[in-house]
Amino acid sequence: MTVISWKKVYATGIIALDDEHRQLIDQINRLYEAIRDKQEETALNDSLKMLEYYTLTHFQHEENLMMEYGFPGLEEHKKKHQELIVIVQDLKMRASSDTDGLAQELLRLLRTWVLEHILDVDKQYGPFLESRGGRFIS
Ligand SMILES: [Fe+2]
Repeated sequence: MTVISWKKVYATGIIALDDEHRQLIDQINRLYEAIRDKQEETALNDSLKMLEYYTLTHFQHEENLMMEYGFPGLEEHKKKHQELIVIVQDLKMRASSDTDGLAQELLRLLRTWVLEHILDVDKQYGPFLESRGGRFIS
């Protein structure tokens, strides 16, 4: 069972970035399944590790493309990315002392943040990049 299924409406139109978004959604589903199976501790650590890497590489990827193609909303978008980076750092710090309920908190946060971010923020660059570089820019 999954908590989020990929829907057409999530697609930005840029295949490389959509693939990365799918990976994040897969991770959210893994976290959900681990909580369900009472494996919170491992899931929390795995998810935080993945998120640290993801916020570094995927956000950089998006920001590089927006910069390269002169997307006007770049600075605003970077601020939104920064918000999640701070949240992940905070959760990581808290996870080092007390993990109680943290996996559930992370799941709730990711479900809301990721879907809102993809639908409201990432989709803004979709048509812009698509009209300039096409779907297959990487
Ligand atoms: Fe983004």
